[in-house]
Amino acid sequence: MDLLDHSPDTPLQKVDHPLFQQQGVELYIKREDLIHPLISGNKWYKLKHNLQYAKQQGFSRLVSFGGAFSNHLHALAFAGQQFGFETIGIVRGELIQPFNPTLADAQQWGMQFEFLSRAAYRCRHDAEFVAQLVEKYEPCFVIPEGGANQWALKGCADIVAGIDQQLPEYDYLCLPCGTGATLAGVTAAASHNTKVLGFSALKGAVSLGDEISNMIFEFSPDNFTQWQLLDEFHCGGFAKLSPQLVTFMRWWQQQTGIELDPVYTGKMMMGLCELLKRDYFPAGSKIVAVHTGGMQGVRGMQEQMERMLA
Ligand SMILES: Cc1ncc(COP(=O)(O)O)c(C=O)c1O
Repeated sequence: MDLLDHSPDTPLQKVDHPLFQQQGVELYIKREDLIHPLISGNKWYKLKHNLQYAKQQGFSRLVSFGGAFSNHLHALAFAGQQFGFETIGIVRGELIQPFNPTLADAQQWGMQFEFLSRAAYRCRHDAEFVAQLVEKYEPCFVIPEGGANQWALKGCADIVAGIDQQLPEYDYLCLPCGTGATLAGVTAAASHNTKVLGFSALKGAVSLGDEISNMIFEFSPDNFTQWQLLDEFHCGGFAKLSPQLVTFMRWWQQQTGIELDPVYTGKMMMGLCELLKRDYFPAGSKIVAVHTGGMQGVRGMQEQMERMLA
């Protein structure tokens, strides 16, 4: 499992742009998107200990969950092929053929699928439902949706260690949130002087804040209060696009040369720039934003984005 043995050595890229200079703040992007073309961003950190644990325990089959464009299932399928696991993807929604590029890749890497109606998929966290899956596919190791378990938090804590080596002090650490596991792992490792801001990709995720608190507490009973979940930058909901988002992403790419994805990192960066306009960050602040990858998902949204720009 060579690819997972060494901590990634990704750049911390300073964004020299008048937008930040005018406000007297410094922005750095932790380019975790550059880890690997297929296991990139937070996926690398979330999967690392899950896969190592599964291997140590002698499992040869992994079962996990996600939507039809899931970055997590995509990375898991590739990792499965690389490291000798069979993979089963439990997919939200009915089977649609031909497969979209995400599922087509995953299938090519050997992933088998079970498609669930949206109603059935809602049971994905229920112990009884998971027990039935285990019975059906045993022996298997079940990884929750988005890889969000304690192994993922342990891996995501290392994102902070990598940044700390490159920039000893910073005031804000920004990242996008889906399940919140990345935010939880990062918060547990961040200095108490750093405020961790999570930009939710989901609309109306009322219980997400509590779920993140619980994940952090289960991982480490220290009292971490220096994190905040921001839920006003989802652009209408998970994987929803708005003309404002698409225009922002094009502008950002032209100005910085850094590509973002529309589901997670685009919304985070748009939110961050909006906060900047509202003078949220005091002058002199050093802000680090984590590029969590997800670029494979762009393929499924390219046409829609181009239509919005036309
Ligand atoms: C590219 C990308 N960024 C951010 C996230 C959100 O991570 P989390 O589910 O740990 O909040 C995901 C989902 O896993 C993702 O695919």
